[in-house]
Amino acid sequence: MRGAAPPSPSFRTCRIPVAVVIAVLFLCLFVYLYLDGLFLFYSSSSLRDATAGIKSSEGCSVSCESSERVNMLKSELVSMSEKNARLEKQVRDLSSGDRRKAGPFGTVRGLRTNPTVLPDESVNPRLAKILEKLAVHNELIVALANSHIKDLLEIWIESIKRVGIPNYLVVALDDDIENFCKSKDVPVYRRNPDVDIDNIGKTGTTVAVSGLKFLVLREFLQLGYSVLLSDVDVVYLRNPFDHLYRDSDIESMTDGFNNKTAYGYINVFDDPSMGWSSLVYTMRIWVYNSGFFYIRPTISSIELLDRVTKRISVYPKAWDQQVFNELLFYPSHPGYVGLHASRRTMDIYLFMNSYVLFKHVRKDSKLRKLKPVVIHVNYHPDKLPRMKAVVDFYVNGKQNALDPFTDGTPK
Ligand SMILES: *[C@@H]1O[C@H](CO)[C@@H](O)[C@H](O)[C@H]1NC(C)=O
Repeated sequence: MRGAAPPSPSFRTCRIPVAVVIAVLFLCLFVYLYLDGLFLFYSSSSLRDATAGIKSSEGCSVSCESSERVNMLKSELVSMSEKNARLEKQVRDLSSGDRRKAGPFGTVRGLRTNPTVLPDESVNPRLAKILEKLAVHNELIVALANSHIKDLLEIWIESIKRVGIPNYLVVALDDDIENFCKSKDVPVYRRNPDVDIDNIGKTGTTVAVSGLKFLVLREFLQLGYSVLLSDVDVVYLRNPFDHLYRDSDIESMTDGFNNKTAYGYINVFDDPSMGWSSLVYTMRIWVYNSGFFYIRPTISSIELLDRVTKRISVYPKAWDQQVFNELLFYPSHPGYVGLHASRRTMDIYLFMNSYVLFKHVRKDSKLRKLKPVVIHVNYHPDKLPRMKAVVDFYVNGKQNALDPFTDGTPK
């Protein structure tokens, strides 16, 4: 990620034990010297008493020498105990971690931007090399594609090239797509053969391929890259990297179509049989669109990917978008530990779904003038003609390009 990364947790956690060990060693030394000093002091003073009476003629050779040594030890002791106090304070500070007093009202901020993982190139050196060349500021757009969606991919690629986005990569799931990308000079990556994945990738329905992406994404994050995961039914109109906040583990497009449904609201459920307390408040938010989200390389993000992959492997018929949302949003409860990942909903007019476009925007003279960052034709199965119409409307300036379409695609 950009900017200074916070100190990695492993570094912080190993500093504490080291400081504790040092403090304990100093404490031992301190105790040893202290006892030793007392003993010397005691023995020398008794010696002095004895010698004073008996051998006063011999002057102070013995007692002077030992009192010098006593003074030396005393000052050593003082500096030792000062040092010890300093170390003890350091241990206290370190073991309390980020603990601090809460600031004044209105100034406190919880942590939502988790530290990124330490990149691990050994996970996939070949991919690491590709990403090193391709990524810009450690981030890139990634799409998975097989030949079933080649026509959509073509429009996807054209729109990205038109905007001039350099950092994007197609994960090809079959030879055809790999060759197609190479012929078009499109950055392409073919995973190493993996029987299970290959079968899903080659023959899979859209749902199966969608589930596969969570597994594929893991390596990108482990290598330390942030990924803007994109389905191919997306038309790019501006560079999305200029419009991200990057403050959350997951920053996602929503299936919501207005402020309430996209950003959350309270829905009141009415149970008249409850009389006085018949109104029950429920929280609602339309699901995140798992076909277009930005994911930062953090432990929470990787945990999310793992949980989704695991759930889908146990319930292969599950819809990956539903699984993604359940695991991202449900809190901990008896028998379940919820994920602690931070989330951000993308702006519905910048990262626009096709419900918003066809139901609202195209009919509103003000909203028609907005220039979205992307349009995702996620609500309509007749994707190809609608994607072309989006290009005509926003790129070629054909004001009536969106008019022939119905709001929804008829069943
Ligand atoms: C929707 O939310 C945006 C951003 O918070 C705000 O600027 C806009 O006024 C809201 N629109 C409506 C209709 O409430």
